[in-house]
Amino acid sequence: MAKILAALCVVACVLLACAEQKVPTQVQANKPLPLLHIQPEVYQLGDIKEGEPAIATFLIRNNHSKPIELVDIQTSCGCTAAKPESFVIMPHDFTQLQVTVDTIAKQSNIRKTISVKDSLGNEASALLIFNVVENPHLSLNRKIKGIFDGKCASCHFKPLVGVKEPSKLYEVGCAMCHGVDAEGGYAPKLRGYASLSALRTIISNGVGKPQMPGFSQKNGGPLTPEQITELSKWLVSLPESAQK
Ligand code: HEC
Ligand code: HEC
Repeated sequence: MAKILAALCVVACVLLACAEQKVPTQVQANKPLPLLHIQPEVYQLGDIKEGEPAIATFLIRNNHSKPIELVDIQTSCGCTAAKPESFVIMPHDFTQLQVTVDTIAKQSNIRKTISVKDSLGNEASALLIFNVVENPHLSLNRKIKGIFDGKCASCHFKPLVGVKEPSKLYEVGCAMCHGVDAEGGYAPKLRGYASLSALRTIISNGVGKPQMPGFSQKNGGPLTPEQITELSKWLVSLPESAQK
């Protein structure tokens, strides 16, 4: 009997643990309650059709005994907006934070970090995860063709104009998708390329996708032939893997 009870207890505990992960309203007794807390810490939205906004509502909790003011709300990309219902949160109260991500020209697995800071210097962050799937209607009526168009250009086009240093070019124009160490991330790894000319061709002409259009001025991109050559040489010179 004791054994059965123990087994039941284990099952119940596992179930409870799962439930807690989805709606983390309780924090383990031995872990102090964070004074500023975003819930859930990880929000999984599932599939979103490209072009349809990814929208999630988080709760920001004030576990202080004093009222707080939210002084800073950051999202990593300009395509993500985060609006709190109220900037002031009373003690042991919460406010809602609506996060909206523009999914135009995105594909597959997207992870967005949202971080907040309060007037007492506490910080909290949360992660929004979703999967962008193809939207057949979008290609018929596309206003934004890719990362160089419209409001996207301020971050994905303009910062590359006139930059000479290839490592800097990589940092401002490629790292956000191919990873800071060129080890890959949202887009493939760019280390280990043997052919300089293949690399130049891909960078100039792109791969026919809105996320990776041709970067040459000839193809409507920001880069001159010299910039593309220097960037390609620099990439080819990188060791196969980044030394940490
Ligand atoms: C304010 C600057 C800014 C603007 C404007 C901007 N982006 Fe980005 N973008 C970034 C940064 C920074 C990243 C790196 C990922 C991150 O930090 O969220 C990124 C990442 C991406 C990615 C990789 C997937 C991802 O979300 O991580 C794609 C695709 C992308 N942007 C497309 C676009 C498109 C299309 C637009 C216009 C509709 C756009 N971006 C507007 C700064 C910007
Ligand atoms: C907004 C995201 C984004 C940015 C910025 C970006 N790329 Fe890409 N890139 C991609 C994606 C996505 C692919 C893969 C497309 C596919 O094949 O599905 C790709 C593919 C490539 C490939 C082919 C890789 C392979 O394994 O086939 C090369 C080379 C490349 N990019 C170089 C660059 C360089 C150099 C820069 C900076 C000048 C850059 N990319 C900027 C998203 C990006």
